[in-house]
Amino acid sequence: SSNAMWGGRFAAGPDAIMEAINASIGYDQRLYAQDIRGSRAHAAMLAAQGIISDKDAEAIGEGLLTVLSEIEAGGFPFSTALEDIHMNVEARLKEVIGEPAGRLHTARSRNDQVATDFRLWVREQCDAAISGLDTLIRAALTRAEEGADWVMPGFTHLQTAQPVTFGHHMMAYVEMFARDKSRFIDARKRMNESPLGAAALAGTGFPIDRHATAEALGFDRPMANSLDAVSDRDFALEFLSASAICAVHMSRLAEELVIWSSAQFRFVAMSDKWSTGSSIMPQKRNPDAAELIRAKIGRILGASVALFTVMKGLPLAYSKDMQEDKEQVFDAADNLMLALAAMAGMIGDMTVNADKLEAAASGGFSTATDLADWLVREAGLPFRDAHHVTGSLVAMAEERGCDLPDLSLEQMQSVNPAITESVFDVLGVHNSVASRQSYGGTAPDQVRAQVARWKELLG
Ligand code: ARG
Repeated sequence: SSNAMWGGRFAAGPDAIMEAINASIGYDQRLYAQDIRGSRAHAAMLAAQGIISDKDAEAIGEGLLTVLSEIEAGGFPFSTALEDIHMNVEARLKEVIGEPAGRLHTARSRNDQVATDFRLWVREQCDAAISGLDTLIRAALTRAEEGADWVMPGFTHLQTAQPVTFGHHMMAYVEMFARDKSRFIDARKRMNESPLGAAALAGTGFPIDRHATAEALGFDRPMANSLDAVSDRDFALEFLSASAICAVHMSRLAEELVIWSSAQFRFVAMSDKWSTGSSIMPQKRNPDAAELIRAKIGRILGASVALFTVMKGLPLAYSKDMQEDKEQVFDAADNLMLALAAMAGMIGDMTVNADKLEAAASGGFSTATDLADWLVREAGLPFRDAHHVTGSLVAMAEERGCDLPDLSLEQMQSVNPAITESVFDVLGVHNSVASRQSYGGTAPDQVRAQVARWKELLG
């Protein structure tokens, strides 16, 4: 038989395959709370405007709460024949309250309804991401403060570059995660306008009050163009884009944790809570959580590519293609929140091996730049010449199998006679980091100042 909601012009029901490709209830049932919230606001507004009676609006409002508690109790009989969450809720409302249920959809379409529900859902996910990032930032900040003095090798090309502090390294991620947080805050502001009342695409002839429903749903204002309201999913794309950037940041940190926890580095050790063993190799302690976080960008970026691709080229206004928006965002949001929580837990729990960090910091001629800078400052060499002299000294040390501070003054002077005893002051890693006092540099004082600034900002 034909569809109870829209089957008036149809003699026959859909093919089973048609029903299968058309139905979204399998996933959009996650929007039930937003759908019921939106419908309650709509019904109350219809009554306030005299479009339906107060009595009907009351029955609808109460009935929707009954449906809400039925769904929340579990085992609600969602029906594929009823396509989506909107029609499942309305059909059940009809069973619960009878005739007045049919008045709920006055001056509304599933097009503005789904846009409203989905905005409400994505808005909540922005809040969840903001709070997840907040927790992660605090975890990184705690580690940064503790390690403000711990010297470690800073890398470029994953080759030892210059000594930095562990605190400085952690604070780099605090900056990244804070920008991620601000992206979700911005996206939330932009998406916080109500599509409800745009109806199918053109607005409605009923004297509705879109400002009232917008306010009831916590939106800042109604969207100003009804075509735009039902057509665009840029709010979801923004959420996915912000999620993808955040996932990239987490992936990079996760990669570092994988490297740092290896037997060759031992910079950090993951706690038992965040590690797994091997079923064959008894010695193993694998950083699976870090690896999975490293991988999450795959599905999150994939979701964003999928939705961008769905949206490109769609003529205004609504097309059914847009039903494909939800699964991508659901999956990306679920995995982003999981990754944020896992990263915060892992960072908070790991043991940092300050001795290993320092030992590694001293290797790899990490203070070669300090030596070149000394030649510029104390011997008046142009930097390019100082670079060359230092390169020769590194080659000499390498040949002798020692580090720069192990060369004698005589050996150094054989390369450049202007070198004096005071050069040894700059060859130690602690002196090196302490000298990087430029704003944003790795000197422990600078790092502590940044930690203090963020603590103040976060309250
Ligand atoms: N399930 C649909 C979606 O997710 C709801 C909107 C349906 N609108 C329509 N005109 N068929 O997009």
